[in-house]
Amino acid sequence: MCNKKKLEMLAKSFAVIHKACFGNPGTKFSSSLILSLIQNPNVKFIEQEQKGFCLARLSDVEAEIITMGIKPEFQQQGIGYSILIRTIQLIKKTNCEKIFLEVASDNIAGIKLYSKAGFNRCGIRKNYYQISSDKKTDAIIMKKSLVE
Ligand SMILES: CC(C)(COP(=O)(O)OP(=O)(O)OC[C@H]1O[C@@H](n2cnc3c(N)ncnc32)[C@H](O)[C@@H]1OP(=O)(O)O)[C@@H](O)C(=O)NCCC(=O)NCCS
Repeated sequence: MCNKKKLEMLAKSFAVIHKACFGNPGTKFSSSLILSLIQNPNVKFIEQEQKGFCLARLSDVEAEIITMGIKPEFQQQGIGYSILIRTIQLIKKTNCEKIFLEVASDNIAGIKLYSKAGFNRCGIRKNYYQISSDKKTDAIIMKKSLVE
């Protein structure tokens, strides 16, 4: 069980990683927002110290990957896939039957990672991400079923 101090340290570390991954659009995942998420018993996380993390929210029979990121200097070393598979395994231990996520339509690395882990495209949210004051990007919705 994580105590409050440990959760605060993790939230700070996740916010630093998130900002390194996404730059300014990622600043909405401040350490205080991340802390409020990971203090919620329905939010689970998997991390590899200082390198990357994945946050998932459980909601009855559905789970959602909230966000994940690997620090740029540790990307393409298998860490993202390992963290994602560990997150899926953790979700499988609950009564969740499916996992959803959203990923920007131009995020090739993210889409390939999720596809490799068994997620399939199931929808699109037009102009979902505000990239800058005059640019938006679609979100692709992906789903992975956990039942046969
Ligand atoms: C997407 C991300 C998490 C992948 O993590 P990673 O540790 O670099 O990924 P891995 O090394 O484990 O690679 C797993 C698979 O992802 C895909 N992938 C990873 N990086 C890729 C890249 N630069 N280009 C294309 N595919 C890529 C590949 O399918 C790869 O499998 P392969 O090596 O068998 O081809 C990482 O690039 C990242 O943090 N990006 C910024 C944040 C982000 O986009 N998060 C996901 C959306 S919320």
